[in-house]
Amino acid sequence: MTHPPPDFDPLQPETFDSAHADYARLRAQCPVARAQAYGGFWALARHADVTRVLTEVDTFITSQQNVVPKVAFTGRRPPLHLDPPEHTPYRAVLNPLLTPERAALLEPAVREYTLHFLLPLLRAGRGDLCQDFAAHVPVRVFGHWMKLPPALEAALGEAAPAFVRAVQSAEADAMKSASLVLYDMARELIGLRRCEPLDPAEDPTSAMLAARIDGEPMSDEMAVGMVRQVLVVGIVAPMVMMGSIAVHLSRHPALQERLRREPQHSAAAVEEFLRLYTPYRGFARTARCPVQIGGRTIPAGEPIALLYASANRDEAVFEHSDQFVLDRPNIKDHIAFGRGPHYCAGAALARLELRVMLEELLARTRHFEVDGELVMTPFPEIGPWQVPVRFTCG
Ligand code: HEM
Repeated sequence: MTHPPPDFDPLQPETFDSAHADYARLRAQCPVARAQAYGGFWALARHADVTRVLTEVDTFITSQQNVVPKVAFTGRRPPLHLDPPEHTPYRAVLNPLLTPERAALLEPAVREYTLHFLLPLLRAGRGDLCQDFAAHVPVRVFGHWMKLPPALEAALGEAAPAFVRAVQSAEADAMKSASLVLYDMARELIGLRRCEPLDPAEDPTSAMLAARIDGEPMSDEMAVGMVRQVLVVGIVAPMVMMGSIAVHLSRHPALQERLRREPQHSAAAVEEFLRLYTPYRGFARTARCPVQIGGRTIPAGEPIALLYASANRDEAVFEHSDQFVLDRPNIKDHIAFGRGPHYCAGAALARLELRVMLEELLARTRHFEVDGELVMTPFPEIGPWQVPVRFTCG
């Protein structure tokens, strides 16, 4: 099959603003775009097209390829890799453990880990906001939520950043071996909980083992896959998101000062930052049959990247879409956490982590600014993952 020439090149080196400029061009001129990189894929840039695909779940599936580039080499991992109705019971296990009320119980732990990693940086007066701070907090919060015993928590503290580095390198072998380390951890955790289950209302792994899928216990393969999925699913995005927040507040000192003076706006600010700097550039789907979108025909089975980061800046939905607007009237239309059955299970926890990290960063400093070169992430995230910052405190 021949394809038209590529409409954009996702492998071009990026700056903090360049991908957003490219997506503005796609939204205006080529909203259903084709790229040759990563084995060839389609990309949807407009909010209406992306949300259509997310909600037409009978036509567009995640089980074939849920992200561009394809990074899942090591097995099926619920819930992300399954389509409804197979997906539904796995989500039903996770949801009660991640409600906003459950997330709120974690706030003291989130604050403790935040200060643990932030204060040394502030004492030093400089450091990398992502590598030295925001990369670590979500890993520790996860360990706490998963009730990991100290040895496994320490192991995750090493394995998760190694996995993130492997994903950033985009090297298949490195990703595979980093993923296998996480699988070993998932197996160990499941072994521990089989011997000594905890309360399934409190412990995610015990909840998975206690669950019944069509009346049967979850298979070992699926339980291991799900624990493995959950071990890292929420670790990269908060780091990149905090990096983008730091860059924006460094460029806009008046906003930085306002949010420092008026911390009651932290939650609303996080929501607008999620829209403006959506850290997951997008996830992918494939169509079960040929589909018409924006006048182009997408054949069945070809990966379609849904550019959430572009949809969230679509001028047709968000006025002044490139600007930070606190308390936007339609902020709820952003899709930084996706939409439909795969809507982020950890959204409440993610919001909590981001709010607490932002609050403490502002409360414990008088001013901060970027002080060095940013390093940007490739697909499927978007934003900086190395952000050298200079802090003024006291
Ligand atoms: C800033 C932080 C985060 C962002 C932006 C984010 C974003 C997303 C998005 C866009 C999806 C949908 C994937 C799709 O459309 O195919 C998703 C799925 C998911 N997220 Fe998050 N996430 C974040 C943090 C977290 C955290 C902290 C957790 C903790 C448990 C988490 C757990 C999950 C799970 C389990 C799924 C799969 C849901 C399913 O397939 O049913 N995420 N996330």
